[in-house]
Amino acid sequence: MKHPRRAAATVATAVLFVAVAFSLGQNQKPGSGASTTTSEKPLTPEQIAKKELTTRIHAPSPMPDRVILTWPSSETTTAQAVTWRTDTSVTAAVAQIALADPGPGVESGWRGYDPGKVKTVSARTTPLTTGLNIAHYHSARFTELRPKTRYMYRVGDGRNWSEWFQFDTPSPEPEPFGFIYFGDAQNAIKSLWSRVARGAYSDMPKAKFIIHAGDLVQNGADDADWGEWHSAAGWINGMIPSIPSPGNHEYGGKTGLTDHWRPQFTLPEDGPSGLAETCYYHDIQGMRVICLNSNEKVKEQTPWLEKVLASRPPSIRWTVITFHHPIYSTGKGRDNKTIREAWRPIFDRYNPDLVLTGHDHTYGRSGLMREDNLMTGSQVHSSSGTVYVVSVSGAKMYDLGDLPWTASKTANTQLYQLIRVDGDLLKYEARTARGDVFDAFELRRRSGGGNSLEERQPGGTDADRGRKYENAAAGAAILALIAVAVGWAVRRR
Ligand SMILES: [Fe+2]
Repeated sequence: MKHPRRAAATVATAVLFVAVAFSLGQNQKPGSGASTTTSEKPLTPEQIAKKELTTRIHAPSPMPDRVILTWPSSETTTAQAVTWRTDTSVTAAVAQIALADPGPGVESGWRGYDPGKVKTVSARTTPLTTGLNIAHYHSARFTELRPKTRYMYRVGDGRNWSEWFQFDTPSPEPEPFGFIYFGDAQNAIKSLWSRVARGAYSDMPKAKFIIHAGDLVQNGADDADWGEWHSAAGWINGMIPSIPSPGNHEYGGKTGLTDHWRPQFTLPEDGPSGLAETCYYHDIQGMRVICLNSNEKVKEQTPWLEKVLASRPPSIRWTVITFHHPIYSTGKGRDNKTIREAWRPIFDRYNPDLVLTGHDHTYGRSGLMREDNLMTGSQVHSSSGTVYVVSVSGAKMYDLGDLPWTASKTANTQLYQLIRVDGDLLKYEARTARGDVFDAFELRRRSGGGNSLEERQPGGTDADRGRKYENAAAGAAILALIAVAVGWAVRRR
């Protein structure tokens, strides 16, 4: 016999399903795909079946999913936020945290259990209605943490729990660490972006954070896109904090920033007015990471950016800025003049070490660059300035433009970047989805200020790389033929 509660849940799910199916027809954006509105072609049975399957795949349940760590403030050593999703049955969500235990004694029923080890924190819940479902997003903040300490945590409602995740709080001192940077994931997220996300994690499992330079998804209003984004990196997001910047695909329609953004990320809200959780900064072990929002209020962010750069204490040795639209474009026929005019003077005055962007679905990386040595191609390897990068991690590819300012560039390649700092040295690598190093350089802080840049992997085009692979393959084939010939000759003796 069916449990009465389960039967009620089944009926509720059926009602929700019908409501969502109805709202799908109502909420469909023009041009965003098949629609059930009467003015357009009715859906085929295959399309209806596909939509029903998509709804089922991305349905929330009482069990937490889409678990993601972020920092809720600039100070990162003592506070950590976690955000997750459930269905609407969960109205009193909680998170539990403990110093990372070598054994199972944080959980009732297991040897060594001590409830005194565990602290329970209430979460703030935000409902979100999407084209596929109605969900609850929960945000919990762990505060008064010890710096440079390993913690374990789980999220749930007291009955249904996630697994225990583990994370390390940063040190308040500058210490060696690495981080991951992705350009646009955006398309074919499950099928083709997941190996990039997982490859980056495999190469740098102790990364302190992950930067996403905008266009995380194709359609910021589509819950299925976000479902793929969260599942592609999966539990990695529960262990390494993310620093997401919104792209134009997280904007759209009349509402501006997608309704998904703020419920699913818990980020600082003390930036410029009207840009809460999209324009913010974090200080992490001697690095200031500034996330700008290149989609709106660009000029309004300038004084804030200048203040954040000017106020860097001596303990901040490195500065990284990320946003979506590059101020030096790599895509053919693309340019973001307004953003360049607003922010470049500030960059040139305060010399951030790296500016990491996306949007152009190609790869391009400069030498040390300032306004006075741009676009001429003659002074790419300047003795001072900032390194600008455009990269792409997802499947969508554009053509390269004419790029005299780049020291390295390529098209038709999915990439992830691994960046390490140790004292006065910063090491940068861009790797392809295969895991090969495509581009690498090092920055060294000079005693008199500024950096020196040393190339570690000559830049080239994808065609050059292709030729190298072909040459290597041809060489291997010749060697194999020689070996066979020698073997035959020896046997004939
Ligand atoms: Fe974009």
